[in-house]
Amino acid sequence: MPAPIRVAVAGAAGRMGQTVCRAVESAPDMELTGRADPALNTPLADVLTNADVLVDFTIPTSAVANAREAVDAGVHVVIGTTGFDPHELDDLKDAAKANVFIAPNFAIGAVLMMEFAVQAARHMASAEIIELHHNTKVDAPSGTAARTARLMGEASQSGETPPIHSVRLPGLVAHQEVILGDVGQTLTIRHDSTDRESFMPGVLLAVRKVGELTESPTVGLERLLGLTS
Ligand SMILES: NC(=O)c1ccc[n+]([C@@H]2O[C@H](COP(=O)([O-])OP(=O)(O)OC[C@H]3O[C@@H](n4cnc5c(N)ncnc54)[C@H](O)[C@@H]3O)[C@@H](O)[C@H]2O)c1
Repeated sequence: MPAPIRVAVAGAAGRMGQTVCRAVESAPDMELTGRADPALNTPLADVLTNADVLVDFTIPTSAVANAREAVDAGVHVVIGTTGFDPHELDDLKDAAKANVFIAPNFAIGAVLMMEFAVQAARHMASAEIIELHHNTKVDAPSGTAARTARLMGEASQSGETPPIHSVRLPGLVAHQEVILGDVGQTLTIRHDSTDRESFMPGVLLAVRKVGELTESPTVGLERLLGLTS
């Protein structure tokens, strides 16, 4: 049997970080080797010495610096943190030491929602996006909504990027509705993550694939699933 993939988690005390730690511990081909978080008094450097892959679910102002530190240490990075511009990591293209994978949404249903929305944008006159999240989410609009809007704008005949409306309320997890309109009809495509477990199969897939990427940074779970958009 091949050696398990050694995984460290940045933001390990957070909501997503804790869920990722549990998922990694349950994966037979992975070993959780470190939990970095200021809330745990464990700096990133402490966990990089013993990891093949770093999974980052932190805050927008930390994700870029964390990724650079990991790549410098030869550790591949899977980033789920949203609210930063992935282009900030474009200069790591030539860093042969380690790869970077970024996904604004690790839920397969959300990736399919984006895919279908992009297909529909090719054929319908206009669209708007409503994204709804828990009230402690720090960034707005969500990374998923921003990416959906950009891809739909590129695909549409008008070239117009759909406007985004953000809702923040207790009781929500992560939800998005894309409403397309044309003469005498509308089409609504909606995805709901009702539990953070929804992101875990995507995160584990990225951990398994990040070391084999032919292009780095790679952005979007659809790139690991063979989808087109
Ligand atoms: N890509 C996806 O599918 C997906 C899904 C859900 C959430 N998210 C994103 O994940 C991020 C985290 O969300 P959350 O709800 O877990 O937030 P959270 O506030 O519960 O957790 C963030 C954690 O990061 C820690 N942290 C801050 N700076 C750090 C640093 N420099 N190094 C290590 N840890 C640090 C904080 O102490 C905290 O424990 C957000 O950006 C959110 O939008 C992405």
